[in-house]
Amino acid sequence: MGQVDQKTMTNKVPDHGPKHVAIIMDGNGRWAQMRGKPRLFGHHAGAKRIREIVEACPDQGVKYLTIFAFSTENWKRTQAEVAGLMRLFRAYIQHEARDLFQRGVRVRFIGDRIKLDDKLVSLMDELELLTAGNDRVHLTIALNYGGRDEVTRAAQRLAYEIEMGRLSYKDVDAETLAKFLDTHVLPDPDLVIRTSGEARISNFLLWQSAYAEYEFIDTLWPDFTEAEFARIVGAYGTRDRRFGAVKA
Ligand code: IPE
Ligand code: IPE
Ligand code: MG
Repeated sequence: MGQVDQKTMTNKVPDHGPKHVAIIMDGNGRWAQMRGKPRLFGHHAGAKRIREIVEACPDQGVKYLTIFAFSTENWKRTQAEVAGLMRLFRAYIQHEARDLFQRGVRVRFIGDRIKLDDKLVSLMDELELLTAGNDRVHLTIALNYGGRDEVTRAAQRLAYEIEMGRLSYKDVDAETLAKFLDTHVLPDPDLVIRTSGEARISNFLLWQSAYAEYEFIDTLWPDFTEAEFARIVGAYGTRDRRFGAVKA
């Protein structure tokens, strides 16, 4: 919880904290298995944690929160788990849309929509449209997202622009390529958190996290709390980000 400033009655937020936090929400399956339950039980418990973390963002000075919900590699799971996850995404949007809107959350989705079913894609479009005027927290949900897939799709669109004669190959630099990424309107993440003890990126925000700080924690995603989020975000302020330079 941020400290309340007695004069203005507004929450004091640290201005040196991360503006954009990205989370690899991992460990739902193991959380369920430990309880002798099916993996989908863990996914449902995981989805319920999102609201509290989104709500914690303004107090922590976090303007952008990006969460990894489904990777381009997650299709390799059993048909039953994939179908259950897709049903969960639809239900999540249907149940949470109103609340997200009322809490001033702007929702965006990143990832390739082509493989997602029409009903889910229209719910995603509607939620983006509904919340387009919000600015309190920017929540980005990575759904059928893969970093390599995103860069490949961006390269393809860039190549198309060149083929059409609207761009020259000489215009292709990091800044131009970034404009073709799904995240083009977002700042790069400052901090990436992964739960469940795995210390890997699993294809998440490869380009954007070039200079992000990483925090790998053992907590399984359904056990992740606002308190732990606040502790990690608070500890970020002590890190010395040099971006390749030497401090004077
Ligand atoms: C993360 O939890 C959620 C998704 C990848 C959809 P997992 O399902 O990967 O949980 P574990 O890693 O098997 O415990
Ligand atoms: C990463 O978790 C993807 C999401 C959290 C959505 P995975 O569980 O799919 O990653 P791996 O397979 O352990 O690398
Ligand atoms: Mg996992």
